[in-house]
Amino acid sequence: MNISLRNVTKRFGQVTAIQDLNLEIGTGVFALLGPNGAGKTTMMKMLVGLLAPTSGQILVDGISLDSKQNIEKVRHIINYLPQEFGLYPSLKVAEELDYFAQLRGHQDFKRRTALIERLLNVVGLQEKKYVKVSTLSGGMRQRLGLPLLY
Ligand SMILES: Nc1ncnc2c1ncn2[C@@H]1O[C@H](COP(=O)(O)OP(=O)(O)OP(=O)(O)O)[C@@H](O)[C@H]1O
Ligand SMILES: [Mg+2]
Repeated sequence: MNISLRNVTKRFGQVTAIQDLNLEIGTGVFALLGPNGAGKTTMMKMLVGLLAPTSGQILVDGISLDSKQNIEKVRHIINYLPQEFGLYPSLKVAEELDYFAQLRGHQDFKRRTALIERLLNVVGLQEKKYVKVSTLSGGMRQRLGLPLLY
């Protein structure tokens, strides 16, 4: 996957959150660091088409995020796991996965149970299966979010 930002500026009224940003992000891990208010969240929101830049162009795998159709296309190839993504803290880990699996249309109980077992193994939370989500560490909660993207 390749993400290009070309002369991207984003203003909120008088506030310029991002000014003339040029950036190429290729395959691999890319870390975006900056002080509070630097514009990181604003940039992430623009990359997934939740916010439009004031000026400049954003391309994801060559697709320019400048039309509804293109934004739809990109949403099929991009995943975004924010810091907060609406887990129910009072549910146990397996119940949480079960709930989201049902929302995704997995109706068959047996198959859903098998799916949850696989997902618990993939994210390494097998031993937390019957533990309340509220007691997980921040990183464990993020891991629990990964299968919810698919
Ligand atoms: N919807 C908005 N309306 C007005 N100003 C906004 C809006 N969203 C962000 N801003 C402003 O844009 C600037 C960048 O904010 P942003 O949330 O992108 O920063 P950040 O790098 O994610 O910060 P943090 O590390 O605190 O999460 C800040 O000055 C912020 O107040
Ligand atoms: Mg932020």
